[in-house]
Amino acid sequence: MAANDLEATARALVAPGTGILAADESTSTIQKRFDKIGVESTEETRRAYRELLFTTEGAEEAISGVILYDETIRQSSADGTAFPKLLESKGIVPGIKVDIGAKPLANAEGETITEGLDGLRERLDEYRGLGARFTKWRAVITIGADIPSDYCIWANAHALARFAGLSQEAGLVPIVEPEVLMDGDHSIERSFHFTARTQHAVFTELHDQRVALEGMLLKPNMVLSGYEAPKRAGVQEVAETTLRCLKHTVPAAVPGIVFLSGGQTDEDATAHLNAMNAMGPHPWELSFSYGRALQAPALAAWGGEEANVAAAQEAYLHRARMNGLARSGTWSPEREQVTAR
Ligand code: 13P
Repeated sequence: MAANDLEATARALVAPGTGILAADESTSTIQKRFDKIGVESTEETRRAYRELLFTTEGAEEAISGVILYDETIRQSSADGTAFPKLLESKGIVPGIKVDIGAKPLANAEGETITEGLDGLRERLDEYRGLGARFTKWRAVITIGADIPSDYCIWANAHALARFAGLSQEAGLVPIVEPEVLMDGDHSIERSFHFTARTQHAVFTELHDQRVALEGMLLKPNMVLSGYEAPKRAGVQEVAETTLRCLKHTVPAAVPGIVFLSGGQTDEDATAHLNAMNAMGPHPWELSFSYGRALQAPALAAWGGEEANVAAAQEAYLHRARMNGLARSGTWSPEREQVTAR
Protein backbone atom coordinates (compact mmCIF):
# COMPACT_ATOMS: atom_id res chain seq x y z
CA MET A 1 0.00 0.00 0.00
CA ALA A 2 1.30 3.46 -0.89
CA ALA A 3 2.32 5.80 1.90
CA ASN A 4 -0.53 8.18 1.03
CA ASP A 5 -3.08 5.38 1.52
CA LEU A 6 -1.72 4.79 5.02
CA GLU A 7 -1.96 8.50 5.70
CA ALA A 8 -5.55 8.63 4.37
CA THR A 9 -6.57 5.80 6.71
CA ALA A 10 -4.79 7.42 9.67
CA ARG A 11 -6.57 10.71 8.95
CA ALA A 12 -9.96 8.99 8.57
CA LEU A 13 -9.48 7.48 12.03
CA VAL A 14 -9.07 10.97 13.53
CA ALA A 15 -11.73 12.73 11.43
CA PRO A 16 -13.23 15.70 13.29
CA GLY A 17 -15.90 14.80 15.83
CA THR A 18 -14.94 11.12 15.89
CA GLY A 19 -12.70 8.65 17.69
CA ILE A 20 -12.04 4.94 18.12
CA LEU A 21 -13.81 2.25 20.16
CA ALA A 22 -11.31 -0.19 21.67
CA ALA A 23 -13.25 -3.48 21.76
CA ASP A 24 -10.11 -5.64 21.64
CA GLU A 25 -10.22 -7.07 25.15
CA SER A 26 -8.45 -10.42 25.26
CA THR A 27 -10.48 -13.42 26.41
CA SER A 28 -9.09 -13.08 29.96
CA THR A 29 -9.77 -9.32 30.12
CA ILE A 30 -13.36 -9.57 28.86
CA GLN A 31 -13.87 -12.35 31.42
CA LYS A 32 -13.01 -9.83 34.16
CA ARG A 33 -15.51 -7.33 32.70
CA PHE A 34 -18.23 -10.00 32.48
CA ASP A 35 -17.48 -11.25 36.02
CA LYS A 36 -18.36 -7.78 37.32
CA ILE A 37 -21.85 -7.95 35.78
CA GLY A 38 -22.35 -11.65 36.55
CA VAL A 39 -22.28 -12.86 32.94
CA GLU A 40 -20.56 -16.09 31.96
CA SER A 41 -17.86 -15.51 29.33
CA THR A 42 -18.38 -17.89 26.41
CA GLU A 43 -17.65 -17.48 22.73
CA GLU A 44 -21.37 -16.79 22.19
CA THR A 45 -21.82 -14.24 25.03
CA ARG A 46 -18.70 -12.41 23.83
CA ARG A 47 -20.07 -12.42 20.27
CA ALA A 48 -23.50 -11.21 21.39
CA TYR A 49 -21.98 -8.37 23.40
CA ARG A 50 -19.77 -7.22 20.53
CA GLU A 51 -22.77 -7.42 18.15
CA LEU A 52 -24.69 -5.12 20.49
CA LEU A 53 -21.93 -2.53 20.24
CA PHE A 54 -21.30 -2.85 16.50
CA THR A 55 -24.97 -2.66 15.49
CA THR A 56 -25.71 0.47 17.55
CA GLU A 57 -27.44 2.81 15.14
CA GLY A 58 -25.93 6.26 14.93
CA ALA A 59 -22.64 5.31 16.62
CA GLU A 60 -20.86 5.98 13.32
CA GLU A 61 -21.47 9.72 13.85
CA ALA A 62 -18.85 9.67 16.61
CA ILE A 63 -16.97 6.39 16.03
CA SER A 64 -14.45 6.26 13.17
CA GLY A 65 -12.89 2.87 13.87
CA VAL A 66 -13.14 -0.18 16.10
CA ILE A 67 -10.22 -2.27 17.40
CA LEU A 68 -11.09 -5.97 17.34
CA TYR A 69 -9.55 -9.01 19.02
CA ASP A 70 -8.38 -12.14 17.16
CA GLU A 71 -11.55 -14.05 18.08
CA THR A 72 -13.85 -11.11 17.25
CA ILE A 73 -12.49 -10.36 13.77
CA ARG A 74 -13.52 -13.93 12.82
CA GLN A 75 -17.07 -13.63 14.26
CA SER A 76 -20.33 -12.49 12.63
CA SER A 77 -23.60 -10.85 13.61
CA ALA A 78 -26.72 -13.03 14.05
CA ASP A 79 -27.62 -12.52 10.37
CA GLY A 80 -24.26 -13.94 9.29
CA THR A 81 -22.47 -10.68 8.37
CA ALA A 82 -18.79 -10.84 9.32
CA PHE A 83 -18.02 -8.12 11.89
CA PRO A 84 -15.39 -6.35 9.73
CA LYS A 85 -17.92 -6.18 6.86
CA LEU A 86 -20.67 -4.94 9.18
CA LEU A 87 -18.43 -2.12 10.44
CA GLU A 88 -17.25 -1.19 6.92
CA SER A 89 -20.90 -0.95 5.79
CA LYS A 90 -21.38 1.80 8.37
CA GLY A 91 -18.22 3.64 7.34
CA ILE A 92 -16.36 2.45 10.46
CA VAL A 93 -12.79 1.25 9.88
CA PRO A 94 -12.01 -2.20 11.36
CA GLY A 95 -8.69 -2.70 13.14
CA ILE A 96 -6.99 -5.47 15.14
CA LYS A 97 -4.89 -5.82 18.29
CA VAL A 98 -1.82 -7.83 17.27
CA ASP A 99 0.33 -8.05 20.40
CA ILE A 100 -0.09 -11.14 22.54
CA GLY A 101 0.26 -9.43 25.89
CA ALA A 102 2.73 -8.06 28.43
CA LYS A 103 4.97 -10.75 30.00
CA PRO A 104 7.56 -10.45 32.80
CA LEU A 105 10.76 -8.81 31.53
CA ALA A 106 13.90 -10.83 32.32
CA ASN A 107 16.12 -9.35 35.06
CA ALA A 108 13.61 -6.56 35.78
CA GLU A 109 11.35 -7.26 38.72
CA GLY A 110 7.88 -5.74 38.40
CA GLU A 111 8.35 -4.78 34.76
CA THR A 112 6.97 -6.24 31.53
CA ILE A 113 7.80 -6.59 27.86
CA THR A 114 5.05 -6.96 25.29
CA GLU A 115 5.35 -10.05 23.10
CA GLY A 116 4.03 -10.99 19.65
CA LEU A 117 6.75 -10.20 17.09
CA ASP A 118 7.46 -13.83 16.10
CA GLY A 119 5.38 -14.70 13.04
CA LEU A 120 3.84 -11.23 13.01
CA ARG A 121 4.42 -10.63 9.28
CA GLU A 122 2.30 -13.69 8.41
CA ARG A 123 -0.41 -12.80 10.95
CA LEU A 124 -0.66 -9.28 9.54
CA ASP A 125 -1.27 -10.66 6.05
CA GLU A 126 -4.04 -12.85 7.40
CA TYR A 127 -5.67 -9.96 9.31
CA ARG A 128 -5.55 -7.80 6.21
CA GLY A 129 -7.36 -10.56 4.33
CA LEU A 130 -10.00 -10.62 7.07
CA GLY A 131 -10.65 -6.89 6.54
CA ALA A 132 -8.40 -5.09 9.06
CA ARG A 133 -7.00 -1.74 7.95
CA PHE A 134 -5.13 -0.79 11.10
CA THR A 135 -3.36 -2.49 14.01
CA LYS A 136 -2.60 -1.87 17.69
CA TRP A 137 0.24 -2.90 20.02
CA ARG A 138 0.25 -1.98 23.72
CA ALA A 139 3.39 -1.64 25.82
CA VAL A 140 2.98 -1.28 29.59
CA ILE A 141 5.22 0.90 31.76
CA THR A 142 4.67 0.82 35.53
CA ILE A 143 5.62 3.65 37.90
CA GLY A 144 6.87 2.40 41.29
CA ALA A 145 9.53 3.17 43.86
CA ASP A 146 12.49 2.24 41.62
CA ILE A 147 10.79 1.75 38.27
CA PRO A 148 10.44 2.16 35.35
CA SER A 149 13.99 1.32 34.31
CA ASP A 150 15.47 2.68 31.09
CA TYR A 151 16.00 -0.96 30.13
CA CYS A 152 12.23 -1.60 30.24
CA ILE A 153 11.38 1.64 28.43
CA TRP A 154 13.85 1.00 25.59
CA ALA A 155 13.04 -2.71 25.19
CA ASN A 156 9.35 -1.82 24.81
CA ALA A 157 10.07 1.14 22.50
CA HIS A 158 12.13 -1.15 20.27
CA ALA A 159 9.30 -3.71 20.04
CA LEU A 160 6.71 -0.99 19.33
CA ALA A 161 8.77 0.25 16.39
CA ARG A 162 9.28 -3.32 15.07
CA PHE A 163 5.51 -3.76 15.16
CA ALA A 164 4.90 -0.37 13.50
CA GLY A 165 7.31 -1.05 10.63
CA LEU A 166 5.84 -4.50 9.92
CA SER A 167 2.30 -3.07 10.01
CA GLN A 168 3.12 -0.38 7.47
CA GLU A 169 4.83 -2.96 5.25
CA ALA A 170 1.53 -4.92 5.28
CA GLY A 171 -0.46 -1.78 4.40
CA LEU A 172 -1.91 -1.40 7.89
CA VAL A 173 -1.82 1.79 9.98
CA PRO A 174 -0.12 1.06 13.33
CA ILE A 175 -1.53 2.50 16.53
CA VAL A 176 1.53 2.72 18.75
CA GLU A 177 0.46 2.45 22.41
CA PRO A 178 3.03 3.03 25.14
CA GLU A 179 0.85 3.06 28.28
CA VAL A 180 2.39 4.52 31.41
CA LEU A 181 -0.04 3.18 34.01
CA MET A 182 -2.06 5.57 36.12
CA ASP A 183 -2.05 3.18 39.12
CA GLY A 184 0.06 4.17 42.11
CA ASP A 185 0.54 7.08 44.49
CA HIS A 186 2.91 9.07 42.27
CA SER A 187 2.55 12.79 41.64
CA ILE A 188 1.55 14.28 38.29
CA GLU A 189 5.16 15.51 37.89
CA ARG A 190 6.45 11.95 38.19
CA SER A 191 3.93 10.82 35.58
CA PHE A 192 5.06 13.67 33.32
CA HIS A 193 8.71 12.66 33.74
CA PHE A 194 8.22 8.99 32.82
CA THR A 195 5.62 9.62 30.12
CA ALA A 196 7.95 12.09 28.39
CA ARG A 197 10.91 9.71 28.77
CA THR A 198 8.89 6.83 27.31
CA GLN A 199 7.60 8.86 24.37
CA HIS A 200 11.11 10.16 23.59
CA ALA A 201 12.36 6.57 23.44
CA VAL A 202 9.41 5.49 21.27
CA PHE A 203 9.93 8.27 18.72
CA THR A 204 13.68 7.64 18.63
CA GLU A 205 13.06 3.97 17.79
CA LEU A 206 10.33 4.84 15.27
CA HIS A 207 12.75 7.19 13.54
CA ASP A 208 15.67 4.74 13.61
CA GLN A 209 13.46 1.96 12.24
CA ARG A 210 12.21 4.19 9.39
CA VAL A 211 8.55 4.24 10.33
CA ALA A 212 6.51 6.80 8.33
CA LEU A 213 5.14 9.14 10.99
CA GLU A 214 2.39 10.35 8.63
CA GLY A 215 0.96 6.83 8.47
CA MET A 216 0.64 6.04 12.18
CA LEU A 217 -1.22 7.17 15.29
CA LEU A 218 0.06 7.46 18.88
CA LYS A 219 -2.10 6.06 21.68
CA PRO A 220 -0.72 7.44 24.95
CA ASN A 221 -1.91 7.78 28.52
CA MET A 222 -2.93 11.21 29.72
CA VAL A 223 -0.61 12.64 32.38
CA LEU A 224 -2.45 12.28 35.70
CA SER A 225 -1.59 12.02 39.37
CA GLY A 226 -1.56 8.32 40.37
CA TYR A 227 -4.98 7.08 41.46
CA GLU A 228 -3.77 6.69 45.06
CA ALA A 229 -1.86 10.00 45.20
CA PRO A 230 -2.66 12.05 48.35
CA LYS A 231 -3.24 15.16 46.24
CA ARG A 232 -4.70 14.72 42.77
CA ALA A 233 -4.47 17.26 39.94
CA GLY A 234 -7.70 18.70 38.59
CA VAL A 235 -8.98 18.76 35.01
CA GLN A 236 -7.16 21.91 33.89
CA GLU A 237 -3.80 20.82 35.30
CA VAL A 238 -4.11 17.37 33.70
CA ALA A 239 -4.92 18.98 30.33
CA GLU A 240 -2.02 21.45 30.55
CA THR A 241 0.53 18.88 31.75
CA THR A 242 -0.49 16.30 29.14
CA LEU A 243 -0.22 18.89 26.35
CA ARG A 244 3.16 20.09 27.61
CA CYS A 245 4.43 16.51 27.49
CA LEU A 246 3.09 15.83 23.98
CA LYS A 247 4.55 19.08 22.62
CA HIS A 248 7.97 17.99 23.90
CA THR A 249 7.83 14.56 22.35
CA VAL A 250 5.41 14.06 19.42
CA PRO A 251 6.46 15.33 15.95
CA ALA A 252 3.84 17.37 14.09
CA ALA A 253 4.07 14.86 11.21
CA VAL A 254 1.96 12.43 13.28
CA PRO A 255 -1.68 12.99 12.17
CA GLY A 256 -3.31 12.15 15.46
CA ILE A 257 -3.07 11.23 19.11
CA VAL A 258 -5.78 8.89 20.37
CA PHE A 259 -5.79 8.63 24.15
CA LEU A 260 -6.51 5.47 26.14
CA SER A 261 -8.79 5.94 29.14
CA GLY A 262 -6.76 3.79 31.55
CA GLY A 263 -9.33 3.36 34.30
CA GLN A 264 -10.49 6.98 34.60
CA THR A 265 -14.20 7.47 35.20
CA ASP A 266 -16.16 7.89 31.97
CA GLU A 267 -16.77 11.54 32.65
CA ASP A 268 -13.15 12.31 33.63
CA ALA A 269 -11.93 10.79 30.35
CA THR A 270 -14.36 13.01 28.46
CA ALA A 271 -13.63 16.15 30.52
CA HIS A 272 -9.84 15.82 30.11
CA LEU A 273 -10.05 15.37 26.33
CA ASN A 274 -12.49 18.26 26.10
CA ALA A 275 -10.22 20.58 28.10
CA MET A 276 -7.26 19.80 25.84
CA ASN A 277 -9.22 20.42 22.66
CA ALA A 278 -10.63 23.66 24.09
CA MET A 279 -6.99 24.83 24.32
CA GLY A 280 -6.38 24.16 20.58
CA PRO A 281 -5.58 24.29 17.78
CA HIS A 282 -2.76 21.74 18.13
CA PRO A 283 -0.30 20.29 15.61
CA TRP A 284 -2.14 16.93 15.69
CA GLU A 285 -5.77 15.84 16.08
CA LEU A 286 -6.43 14.99 19.72
CA SER A 287 -8.89 12.13 19.90
CA PHE A 288 -9.90 9.04 21.87
CA SER A 289 -9.44 5.29 21.60
CA TYR A 290 -11.31 4.32 24.74
CA GLY A 291 -12.17 0.87 25.98
CA ARG A 292 -13.61 1.11 29.47
CA ALA A 293 -14.66 4.79 29.25
CA LEU A 294 -16.89 4.01 26.25
CA GLN A 295 -18.18 0.65 27.37
CA ALA A 296 -18.66 0.67 31.15
CA PRO A 297 -22.23 2.08 31.21
CA ALA A 298 -23.27 -0.15 28.31
CA LEU A 299 -21.93 -3.27 30.02
CA ALA A 300 -23.76 -2.39 33.23
CA ALA A 301 -27.03 -1.68 31.39
CA TRP A 302 -26.78 -4.94 29.41
CA GLY A 303 -26.09 -7.42 32.21
CA GLY A 304 -26.19 -10.27 29.69
CA GLU A 305 -29.96 -9.91 29.06
CA GLU A 306 -31.39 -9.76 25.55
CA ALA A 307 -34.17 -7.50 26.90
CA ASN A 308 -31.57 -4.88 27.85
CA VAL A 309 -29.86 -4.60 24.48
CA ALA A 310 -31.63 -1.35 23.49
CA ALA A 311 -30.80 0.30 26.84
CA ALA A 312 -27.16 -0.80 26.55
CA GLN A 313 -26.93 0.58 23.01
CA GLU A 314 -28.37 3.87 24.21
CA ALA A 315 -25.75 4.05 26.99
CA TYR A 316 -22.93 3.35 24.51
CA LEU A 317 -24.28 5.88 22.00
CA HIS A 318 -24.46 8.51 24.73
CA ARG A 319 -20.78 8.08 25.69
CA ALA A 320 -19.74 8.03 22.04
CA ARG A 321 -21.59 11.31 21.47
CA MET A 322 -20.15 12.96 24.61
CA ASN A 323 -16.62 12.07 23.49
CA GLY A 324 -17.49 13.26 19.98
CA LEU A 325 -18.27 16.67 21.52
CA ALA A 326 -14.99 16.59 23.46
CA ARG A 327 -13.18 16.36 20.11
CA SER A 328 -14.00 20.02 19.50
CA GLY A 329 -13.97 21.22 23.11
CA THR A 330 -17.75 21.73 23.04
CA TRP A 331 -18.65 19.20 25.74
CA SER A 332 -19.79 20.43 29.17
CA PRO A 333 -21.18 18.60 32.22
CA GLU A 334 -24.60 20.02 31.30
CA ARG A 335 -24.52 18.12 28.01
CA GLU A 336 -24.43 14.92 30.08
CA GLN A 337 -27.73 15.89 31.73
CA VAL A 338 -29.56 16.96 28.59
CA THR A 339 -28.94 13.79 26.64
CA ALA A 340 -28.76 11.27 29.47
CA ARG A 341 -31.64 8.82 29.70
P1 13P B 1 -8.93 1.69 28.15
O1 13P B 1 -9.51 2.90 27.47
O2 13P B 1 -9.94 0.89 28.94
O3 13P B 1 -7.67 1.99 28.90
O4 13P B 1 -8.52 0.67 26.98
C1 13P B 1 -7.90 1.16 25.87
C2 13P B 1 -7.01 0.12 25.31
O5 13P B 1 -7.16 -0.25 24.15
C3 13P B 1 -5.94 -0.44 26.14
O6 13P B 1 -5.06 -1.16 25.33
